Amino acid sequence: MFLALLVAAGLLCCAQSSPVTKSGGSQKLDLTPSMKAKRSARIIEECMLVGLEEGTYYYKSRGTGDVCGVYLLSKPDEAVQVSFDYLDVDCDTDGLVSFVDGWELGGELFPSEVDAPLEGRVHEFCGRLKKKVFRSSGNAALIQYRVPNRGDGFKITVRYTKNPSPCNILVDEVSGVYTLRNHGGRSNCSITTIFPATVSIVQLAVGVNGVAVPNRAIETGVLSRCEKRGSRDYVQIGGGQGLDVTKLEVEDSVCGMDSNPRVPASHILCGMTTVRMVSSGLTDNSITIAISQITDLELMPTLVCEMPL
Ligand SMILES: *[C@@H]1O[C@H](CO)[C@@H](O)[C@H](O)[C@H]1NC(C)=O
Repeated sequence: MFLALLVAAGLLCCAQSSPVTKSGGSQKLDLTPSMKAKRSARIIEECMLVGLEEGTYYYKSRGTGDVCGVYLLSKPDEAVQVSFDYLDVDCDTDGLVSFVDGWELGGELFPSEVDAPLEGRVHEFCGRLKKKVFRSSGNAALIQYRVPNRGDGFKITVRYTKNPSPCNILVDEVSGVYTLRNHGGRSNCSITTIFPATVSIVQLAVGVNGVAVPNRAIETGVLSRCEKRGSRDYVQIGGGQGLDVTKLEVEDSVCGMDSNPRVPASHILCGMTTVRMVSSGLTDNSITIAISQITDLELMPTLVCEMPL
C-alpha cells in the first residue's frame, strides 16, 4: 500500500491560503484549468489533479516513477463512480494503481478510519485489466498511481451518481447548507471543509427521542458539551490541520432539539473545519448547518488550531 506516500502539501497550502485570494460566489477549488476544456478524451498530465468533471481520461506513463493522484469530488448528494475501462501497468517494475473510497491527504483519510473502516476501501491492482467499476460511499474518491514503465497507462471514465443517503461529505464550495442524518442507525457522519469556515446550526435534532410525541418533540434548545455530559449522540464542531477526526480540536459538542436555533456561529480558523455527528442508533438524529468560508481576516475566531511544529 502506498497511501502515505502522497504528500499533498500543495493542496493543503493553497486551500489554506485561499481566504485571502478568493471572494464570494460558488467558486470551486480550481487547480486544473486545463482539464476544464470540453474535449471527448482528455489526457491526465498533471501529477496531482483535483476536481475533474465527468468524462473519460487517459494516462500514459512517460517513464517516471512518481506517485500521483486524481482527487475526485462530486456534489454532496452524489457518489463518485470510476470505471477503469482499460489498464496496462507492469507489476514487475513496481507499477501500481489504486482506487480509494475517500480522500487521502498527508497520510490522513476522509472519511477517517474510526468512522469508516479501511477494509474494502482501498483497491490496488497492476497488470492487465479489462474493465472494473468502483463507487465511493461518500462524495470523495481518489485514484493513486505509480507507473514507472514508459508507455504503460490506463483509461478511466468518471461519473457522478445520485447518493440518496450521504453520510460523509467533503466540501469545496465556499458556502452551502448541508444536512447530516443517521436514519436511525448506528453510524458516524461528518462534513469537512478544506478551508477555515464559519459554521451555524440551522436545525438540530440529536439525542432526543421524538417518538413519544410525534411531530411535537420537546424543544430543548441547543445543549452544549454533550459528549462530556455523557450523551451517546452528539455533534462535534471543530477543526484540524488534517482529515483525521481523531485529531480534531473540538470547540463544542452539541445535542438537543431546536428547530430554530439562535446560538452564535462558530468561526473555526483551522486548515479544515469538521462537523461530526456521532450516532448510537438509539435516536433519529439530524443536523442542518450553514457553512461559509472565512474570508474576513478581521473576524474574531472562536477556535484557532495549533499549527504543527
Ligand atoms: C462512532 O464514534 C464513537 C466515538 O468516537 C465510537 O465510539 C463509535 O464506535 C463510532 N461508531 C461507529 C459505527 O463507527
